[in-house]
Amino acid sequence: MNLVFMGLPGAGKGTQAERIVEHFEIPHISTGDMFRSAIKEETPLGIEAKSYMDRGELVPDEVTIGIVNERLAKDDCKHGFLLDGFPRTVAQAEALENMLALSDRGIDHVIYINVKKDLLLARLTGRRICKDCGSTYHTEFNPPKVSDVCDKCGGELYQRHDDNAETVGKRLDVNIKQQQSLLDFYQDRGLLRTVDGEKHIDQVFSNISNLVKGQE
Ligand code: AP5
Ligand code: ZN
Repeated sequence: MNLVFMGLPGAGKGTQAERIVEHFEIPHISTGDMFRSAIKEETPLGIEAKSYMDRGELVPDEVTIGIVNERLAKDDCKHGFLLDGFPRTVAQAEALENMLALSDRGIDHVIYINVKKDLLLARLTGRRICKDCGSTYHTEFNPPKVSDVCDKCGGELYQRHDDNAETVGKRLDVNIKQQQSLLDFYQDRGLLRTVDGEKHIDQVFSNISNLVKGQE
């Protein structure tokens, strides 16, 4: 199963992706995570991506398309994958379509997690992430059992560098600007499935699972 998750920053793409990839046993490909690990390793890609991410802007299409192309060519993607946060522009969507067509593949479902802009600032500024296993929490909406400690692995939780109020505002504006044309692109192809991302995390997961299993 080849899936794409769309949604504004904070809509819950990463939270739901963690669960869906475990359930369907497919690799989780998050362009944001790929850029963050390149930044940590101080590679040329990381150095370039950091300047955009720190400003809340999109990394240029050619850079982003290049890393996804490489990743999708790996063996573990042959039997399915979940793309989280890619594509984010129509140029990226067209490139994805072309790269998959070369290996007779296509997207099965584009899941759009729909959340009103007003809710997203609180979601992002309260987000905490495990530094060891990457699990996502929220200080209020999804708190760990022990403050700042990961339930799954005991790792320490941290706040993402771009989750401050100023950068979050910019990220939301940039993504809102791109989003409608991308939704139209996938609507035209009959691939778009919209889920209400304002429901409880478990309910959103159940709705997405049912959609991709074709039971809804
Ligand atoms: P990326 O890492 O993809 O960030 P994003 O798109 O801004 O999305 P987030 O990861 O912030 O949000 P999410 O939807 O995953 O929310 P989460 O599940 O964590 O990208 C970062 C940057 O990289 C971009 O700004 C850009 O510079 C660059 N980049 C990445 N991809 C790119 C591309 N394709 N092209 C160009 N540049 C690119 O949830 C958020 C919080 O809410 C959590 O605390 C969670 O616990 C909580 N929560 C989740 N669901 C619920 C719920 N149902 N109810 C209550 N709380 C909830
Ligand atoms: Zn952890």
